[in-house]
Amino acid sequence: MTRRPIIAGNWKMHLTVAEGLALASEIRNRCARFRGVDVVVAPGAASLYPICQRLADSPIGVAAQNCHHAAQGAYTGELSPVQLADVGCGYVIVGHSERRQLFGETDEGVGKKARALHDHGLTPIVCVGETLVERDAGRTLEVVLRQLDAALGSLRPEEIAASVVAYEPVWAIGTGRTATPAQAQEIHAALRTRLVALAGETVAQKVRIQYGGSVKPDNIRDLMSQPDIDGALVGGASLTADSFTRIVAFENEDA
Ligand code: PGA
Repeated sequence: MTRRPIIAGNWKMHLTVAEGLALASEIRNRCARFRGVDVVVAPGAASLYPICQRLADSPIGVAAQNCHHAAQGAYTGELSPVQLADVGCGYVIVGHSERRQLFGETDEGVGKKARALHDHGLTPIVCVGETLVERDAGRTLEVVLRQLDAALGSLRPEEIAASVVAYEPVWAIGTGRTATPAQAQEIHAALRTRLVALAGETVAQKVRIQYGGSVKPDNIRDLMSQPDIDGALVGGASLTADSFTRIVAFENEDA
């Protein structure tokens, strides 16, 4: 089974609407020709609508960086899956470590969001990852498998198959310190084994597992050469069209 690679750019809390539109246009113009890979950008909430409009006729997907699990309600400051689908998003990142660490997001909450996203036809990009303290204590697998179970536990097998998982070791995010391809592969393989237990071999072989954490043009190829690494969730290097395009073009020498 060959899984179609998926490269997503997480813009976090960067860029104005005008800057985001310019970057989105450039990414569309430069990345649309790479037909063998799914490309997704995740702008800040204020830019989602204009960027979805700008990319509507292109193969580039748009992700929100978070959502609430309810379809609507008195939840000041939140955005629902219904609203995100309405503006044109196809994906939502859930459980990013910054949300877990800085905004108190829990495993249970991530699971509710993943459930709600599938209910409304959106694809969750479910982030899991250990801190340095957890890694040094030998708890990496315990942590990421617990996060995976909680995120996907309420999904049907076909929903699991359509979900994207992102393994992002917290110590590698924004630090310039990437997991080695072998370190990442070890965890990706363990995640896939857990997916077999959750949903069976056929489903597990369909799930795309991205690596995230200081992915750059010069390390993407080695990461992507690993059998269970199916893409990347890119932060800092997604903020210029040049570096993001070079990551998307990881298989093409001429990019
Ligand atoms: P980074 O961020 O590429 O800047 O390390 C990755 C992420 O947080 O998704």
